[in-house]
Amino acid sequence: MPVAVLRGTGGALPPRRVTNDELAARLATSDAWIVERTGIRARHLAPPGMCTSDLAVAAAQAALVAAGTPAQAIDLVVVATSTPDRTFPATATAVQARLGITGGAAFDLQAVCSGFVYALAVADSLLRTAAYRRALVIGAELFSRILDWDDRATAVLFGDGAGAVVLEAMEPAEAQGRGILAARLRADGRYGDLLYVDGGPGTTGTVGRLRMQGREVFRHAVVNLADIVHETAILAGVSVADIDWLVPHQANRRIIEATARKLGLPMERVIVTVDEHANTSAASVPLALDQGIRDGRIRPGQLCLLEAMGGGFTWGAVLLRI
Ligand code: ACO
Repeated sequence: MPVAVLRGTGGALPPRRVTNDELAARLATSDAWIVERTGIRARHLAPPGMCTSDLAVAAAQAALVAAGTPAQAIDLVVVATSTPDRTFPATATAVQARLGITGGAAFDLQAVCSGFVYALAVADSLLRTAAYRRALVIGAELFSRILDWDDRATAVLFGDGAGAVVLEAMEPAEAQGRGILAARLRADGRYGDLLYVDGGPGTTGTVGRLRMQGREVFRHAVVNLADIVHETAILAGVSVADIDWLVPHQANRRIIEATARKLGLPMERVIVTVDEHANTSAASVPLALDQGIRDGRIRPGQLCLLEAMGGGFTWGAVLLRI
């Protein structure tokens, strides 16, 4: 059976970096509160007119360059997003068209902050069938468009961005141990009201705004994430201690630290970008992976565990050797 091997990564952030102090100028909050509770110092916010597909295309182009793969060689485009350009068609088809890809399949996947991990697992399954050869898997979000900018409890937590990876199906002999070794996805819809958007075409007919019971989300996150990491490691037949890098969803530094502590992984083996990106939902894991690879911390042959949890609740993990 073919293996899905990571060939390249890319990231894209809107140029405007917004500090906590800038938000504190218009909300009853402070840099000290945000840093202490979340670890966030800044986020990037898109200007009016910028679309999710703009960031997705920029991240995809960077990933294609890193992979040395021409866009036309891609036969599967999956975009994980909760903030699509339009209700339909899928943002993935817009990305496909703008990259000049005319063959294969393209679709969006919606699992909120777990979206990229879900998309990676789905792309892995499709590449293993040998029906597709090269996949572009993207997490791209404009959460600034669905925030209630008068709600200090949520407005300070999120940012905009996109991350992308190129995966290629290889025979095991060629892959030489590289590639996606295991993936595990979970969902429990009973918790839908703890983190949701209060609109949509099927209900209010409006886009809606993000609503969250932060403390409850926090409580579930650490337990669910530690469990899914263990389950994924068992599936792959590796020990959690063998993981070289944890690449977690970047929601809150305290969630990341508590999860790493529960797993017995030192923070020196965890990629953290939440300080500069805030929570970019489906974009956070591929952005963190891209940063770790580009700054030389994550090296070929190393074992990386990607994990995320988000609205739904949904959560999941993917173990891959770089
Ligand atoms: N600035 C100042 N004060 C604030 C702010 C703010 N931005 N936001 C809330 N507060 C106040 C509250 O009003 C409250 O005041 P009160 O005691 O007078 O009522 C006080 O701070 C404490 O509020 P809590 O919500 O209990 O604060 P908590 O310590 O739980 O921190 C936070 C809130 C940061 C949202 C935390 O619960 C959290 O990170 N939860 C996880 C949520 C998350 O990451 N969601 C992302 C999507 S899901 C995921 O990715 C895992």
